[in-house]
Amino acid sequence: MTDSTSFDIIVVGGGPVGLSCGWQASAQGQRTLVLDRHGFFNEQCGTSGAERHWRLQYTQEDLFRLTLETLPLWRRLESLAERKLIHHIGSLWFGDIEVDTNEGQIAETARVMDKLELRYDWLTAKEIERRYGFTNLPKHYAGFMQPDGGAIDVRGTLAALYGLAQQHGCHLRGGERVLGLTPDADGVTVRTDRTTYRAAKVVLANGAEVNHLLTPLGATLDIKLYEMALVSLPRRDEDVDFPFWFVFQQPTEEDTNLFYGFGRNPWSPSELVRLGPVFEVNPIDDADQATGVPDPRHVRRLTSWVGEHVPSLDPTPAQTSTCLAVLPGDPRRQFYLGLADKLVPHGEHIVLYSSGWGFKFVPLLGEICVDLAMSGTTKHDISRLSPTATQEAQQ
Ligand code: BEZ
Repeated sequence: MTDSTSFDIIVVGGGPVGLSCGWQASAQGQRTLVLDRHGFFNEQCGTSGAERHWRLQYTQEDLFRLTLETLPLWRRLESLAERKLIHHIGSLWFGDIEVDTNEGQIAETARVMDKLELRYDWLTAKEIERRYGFTNLPKHYAGFMQPDGGAIDVRGTLAALYGLAQQHGCHLRGGERVLGLTPDADGVTVRTDRTTYRAAKVVLANGAEVNHLLTPLGATLDIKLYEMALVSLPRRDEDVDFPFWFVFQQPTEEDTNLFYGFGRNPWSPSELVRLGPVFEVNPIDDADQATGVPDPRHVRRLTSWVGEHVPSLDPTPAQTSTCLAVLPGDPRRQFYLGLADKLVPHGEHIVLYSSGWGFKFVPLLGEICVDLAMSGTTKHDISRLSPTATQEAQQ
């Protein structure tokens, strides 16, 4: 009889990355358990909303190469799940091309696109207005349209990953909270609010809650949690649509002054379009402090930008909500990804992924975490993202 408390790999966190690990580990014959405190398909611990930005371009060349390595894995996932998950509506970045943000920088990204030979159209403010219907853009604004970018179907992705994990015999347990980990020379004991398990390896994919398990072992990741506003607006003209767009602007005294929006969601019956500010301000201490109610000032900042620059949208919100952005404290580091071997005693049995705008990397993050759990190494270059990579490495 198989022991129901003993596994090759236990994944803590059943969000997109955890499910991707569950699928890819069990597909390789690993006896795998995925545990989620809330249950699957919840939006409580991470970003929410039906769509997420797909982009190839990154200012950092290592991340750019990782998106190029992710695309074939998305194609494989789409083919196994028999559904389209990435909709290539394009990715439009515009604004002040020199402004540096956690999401990137336009001028430098264009240089890296040239180097990696990724196609794009360079556009002036006037061309952006003419093509996409924005108005009153400052004259010095410019940017690019990268046509391979677009929007990812979030719920479709979760359903595909869950279905594949289940198909390969992965054990999926929701509503069970991991209380503590005890790594030793042979593996890890995992204590939950129901029972105790034993695993050869543990993957921590529990996002905002990673420090709940790491801190008692003597290490704490420098991460910041921001509850950001999401705003859905009606279109004034049904014929007008948008690519994914992101406007890069100089920060104001109060916030980062960054806004983004999607076009009409191709897989949703709703006619509304979703937009948001990316204001890295007023961090909260714990995911449990998220209220689901956006800061009214942030909603107003977004709707007044829309009122001035996007005449085809009605700036009166039809719906508002929030997402929880979990970002590294050092803005030059985009993710934590790697073995915890130099972080905690016997950390060679623990793989961790935490923080950053990671949805676009989901199939690759699963592959990398499972590679690390199974062999301690991966062919993908994640050296800069290692939890113990120095500040100098982030330059
Ligand atoms: C991104 O592409 O990484 C991104 C898009 C919208 C908001 C934040 C991040």
